[in-house]
Amino acid sequence: MRILAIQSSPNEDGLTAKTAKMVLNGAEAEGATIELINLNELIIKPCIACDGGWGQCRREGKCVQDDEFQLLRDKIHAADATVFATPVYWGDLSESAKIFLDRLRRCEVNSEFKALNGKIAFGIASAGGTGNGCVKALLHLEDYIRRIGFTVFDLVTITQVSKEHKLQMLEVAGHRLAKMRS
Ligand SMILES: Cc1cc2nc3c(=O)[nH]c(=O)nc-3n(C[C@H](O)[C@H](O)[C@H](O)COP(=O)(O)O)c2cc1C
Repeated sequence: MRILAIQSSPNEDGLTAKTAKMVLNGAEAEGATIELINLNELIIKPCIACDGGWGQCRREGKCVQDDEFQLLRDKIHAADATVFATPVYWGDLSESAKIFLDRLRRCEVNSEFKALNGKIAFGIASAGGTGNGCVKALLHLEDYIRRIGFTVFDLVTITQVSKEHKLQMLEVAGHRLAKMRS
């Protein structure tokens, strides 16, 4: 089982990164091959809505832009399961998560190969103490990952208040994720 985690906070030691690491720790203990990506380290440009808005990806199955988007997309295709861990910014996903997922959605929805159908995704939204907009952010994340073709393993919110019990829960979830069949 290959499990990829993409964390989209600029804080590599923050709560969002910690959620991804806890899932990966649990999965690795079950023998899974794991990889953690800090999304903000990659150069991924926003979608340019080429071809009159319809996108050349609709015909060609891949994006025309030259950056690190395809590299990460290839990693997702190679993985059995992908963990998407985002911080909650203004009740929404982080900017880097939105930029990447906007492009992934276009390429995957348009692709005739439907490469992600049947693959597993795990969505996690990490908020501050108030947790304001946490569920809304997770709802947006769910919409991306379902539309792209993933099967959802779980969707979890976590805040500075709930982290004591939810981080433990995420490690347990990692153990179970490693035993899923894509
Ligand atoms: C620009 C910005 C906007 C934020 N908006 C929210 C919000 O709407 N609701 C909330 O509960 N926390 C909000 N927070 C707090 C973060 O979600 C919280 O600190 C989270 O744990 C960040 O994860 P990190 O430790 O990985 O950076 C915001 C933080 C920043 C920097």
